[in-house]
Amino acid sequence: MRTYLVTGGAGFIGTNYIHYMFRKYGDAIRIINVDVLTYAGNLENLREVEDKENYTFVRADITDAEAIAKLFAENEIDRVVHFAAESHVDRSIRDPEVFVKTNVLGTAVMLNCAKTAWELPDGSFMPDKKFLHVSTDEVYGSLEEDGTYFYETTPYAPHSPYSASKASSDMLVKSYIDTYHFPANITNCSNNYGPYQFPEKLIPLVINNALQGKKLPVYGDGKNVRDWLYVDDHAKGIDMVQELGRLGETYNIGGHNEKQNIEIINIIIDTLQEMLPADDPRRALVSRDLITYVEDRKGHDRRYAIAPDKIKAEIGWEPETKFEDGIRRTIAWFFEHEEWMKNVTSGDYQKYYEEMYQNR
Ligand code: NAD
Ligand code: DAU
Repeated sequence: MRTYLVTGGAGFIGTNYIHYMFRKYGDAIRIINVDVLTYAGNLENLREVEDKENYTFVRADITDAEAIAKLFAENEIDRVVHFAAESHVDRSIRDPEVFVKTNVLGTAVMLNCAKTAWELPDGSFMPDKKFLHVSTDEVYGSLEEDGTYFYETTPYAPHSPYSASKASSDMLVKSYIDTYHFPANITNCSNNYGPYQFPEKLIPLVINNALQGKKLPVYGDGKNVRDWLYVDDHAKGIDMVQELGRLGETYNIGGHNEKQNIEIINIIIDTLQEMLPADDPRRALVSRDLITYVEDRKGHDRRYAIAPDKIKAEIGWEPETKFEDGIRRTIAWFFEHEEWMKNVTSGDYQKYYEEMYQNR
């Protein structure tokens, strides 16, 4: 039985990946989920799988080399899928240091522990061991509105402390590939959306605010473009790259689904109005009048757009979920998980929201 060590599995994409992998492989794989449970990690996301014999949760910090080395010593790990990170750009602008610690040092610890566990005396690696580093398209910087795309060969030009820390972590992985022939891949993915996404990010924030008749904050002119991918398509891409990709290679993952932020917000409002039953009192609250233009994000990247040509040609991955379907599925999930939203937005979230938006 193949054993996966998943880092950050209690966060948004990690959770969806774990559910995807158990749906796909059932009891043929074992997953160890290591997560320190920051504000973004939530064990409630994994309640359905927590009693499975082939699933284990370990609370540990990826910057804690001793704890991570112990995990490798006590388990025969075949695959590492490394999601754990600080992931929100706005937080990185306010508090960059934790991004360097988790994203850079944490990745160094993961790489070093995997290398130590998998390396043979002659410097080669045990067969069929693989490390996948989950990264972002933000490392490539910002595109103009001119129809160009991010390719795997696009030079790195990160702008935010978040993207700079992810770029550094990618460089570390590349250095292990080049120096030690370490068996790794990197995926650089565009903006994900779907169930379990924390409502600091645009789509769940807008859904949550709109349903309460709260303002919908649009940064700048609302015309920044992101390339949105349904999270299950990302999970599938990660698994396909790990099993079918050429070791040492980077693969971009994206949906060719570019939209301006204001378009996304209007689609969410229209879809909520369509999906809410006629007698639901929230229907009267959801309105385009809630849209409020606020001060722009500092250093706000204008446009992201992935060219997923390589992953399609070499591996046969393509996005499957059309945005119209993915957004309905996401909204339906949030309708069915009101408690989840209440739980994650109680306590610290209120403080975060006030600090980030009150005087904006
Ligand atoms: P998230 O913020 O929702 O989840 C991050 C998880 O990592 C949380 O469970 C958190 O508790 C855990 N974590 C944070 N610091 C840790 C530490 N020191 N030790 C152990 N666990 C720790 O993030 P996400 O949106 O699910 O993103 C996951 C990964 O995918 C990140 O590496 C991110 O850079 C990358 N990515 C995200 C997107 C996106 O649109 N969300 C797109 C491309 C790539
Ligand atoms: O591109 C991949 C990246 O996508 C990931 O690496 C990051 O982890 C993930 O957070 C995401 O980064 P973005 O900054 O693009 O996502 P966010 O949801 O924060 O913002 C999307 C766009 O919406 C961005 O242009 C900023 C804008 N925005 C965001 C918020 C939270 C607003 O206009 N208002 C808001 O309140």
